[in-house]
Amino acid sequence: MSRIFSGIQPSGELHLGNYLGAVKNWIQLQGQHPTIICIVDYHAIITVPYDPDVLRARRREMAVSLLAAGIDPEVATLYVQSAVREHTELQWILNTITPLGELERQTQFKDKASRQESVNAGLLNYPVLQAADILLYRADLVPVGEDQLQHLELSRVVARRWNAMYGRGEDYFPEPQPLLTPTRRIMGLDGQAKMSKSLGNTIALLESRDEIWAKLRPAVTDPARVRRTDPGHPEVCNIYTLHKAFSAPDAVKQVYEQCTSAGWGCVDCKKVLLDAMDGELVPIRRRAEELRAQPARVDEVLAAGASACRAIAQQTMADVRERMGLD
Ligand code: TRP
Repeated sequence: MSRIFSGIQPSGELHLGNYLGAVKNWIQLQGQHPTIICIVDYHAIITVPYDPDVLRARRREMAVSLLAAGIDPEVATLYVQSAVREHTELQWILNTITPLGELERQTQFKDKASRQESVNAGLLNYPVLQAADILLYRADLVPVGEDQLQHLELSRVVARRWNAMYGRGEDYFPEPQPLLTPTRRIMGLDGQAKMSKSLGNTIALLESRDEIWAKLRPAVTDPARVRRTDPGHPEVCNIYTLHKAFSAPDAVKQVYEQCTSAGWGCVDCKKVLLDAMDGELVPIRRRAEELRAQPARVDEVLAAGASACRAIAQQTMADVRERMGLD
């Protein structure tokens, strides 16, 4: 049976881009396959200087958000990466077989490196840690957003190489395949770039209705719709994309008709969206409140997850050490 693994950085609040692009997919899949979801704190410490207490708080807040959104610890395994030591052990081993050129070609590395004055080795090796995350559990399916496809390809290169060198004719590590969500790319409220924490164009999953409205109201729509009477073009409007994610099919059809006939103005359309979002997000916000009130319960979930993962990870590392002459 296929095993699913995915990871998310505890680098701030879970936003709608993460939720629609990845997390909803995890929730759908968790009942169908063994599923492991990892809060990747080792990845989060690479890019910017950080405060340890803030990191601790963000890990917990990410766990709260994921559980509130619907990750069910009865069927899925949720844990924090650094609680399982084998991630970094396997990463070292994979470093020794990863071609430098493959790492230097990664767009995410090039992007981030070009925006920093000094670049640490962790930034370059980020995708090797990601490969280790996945291979440690010999996962074959990795539900991620589009921006992670190149990293996954590297994971396959590394798996293939290790198998060829040490697999004794067996594909010990399966080559992990991506699973993309129907809602592939959520743009930020500026309509310019992907929704992303670092660009400050996000709506967080747990924001209140008022906070969401304050961001939605001025959000960019179809730039060609200048006057209220101009017909709009839903295909190029980010608000329409959000309708497709949150509104029922009939309502989406109505939005399309009202926009293209200039029946509704953009603000009308955004109000309808706000109500549709509430339908899905109010119960999530309520569950998050309950979870925040029981920190021991969250700790328990993460501890149980780490312990289940450790058992798998230790077995993989025993096999790896044995095959590499390191036992
Ligand atoms: N790099 C991923 C991101 O930024 C997070 C991640 C780390 C991940 N390890 C992973 C995703 C393993 C999938 C599988 O979104």
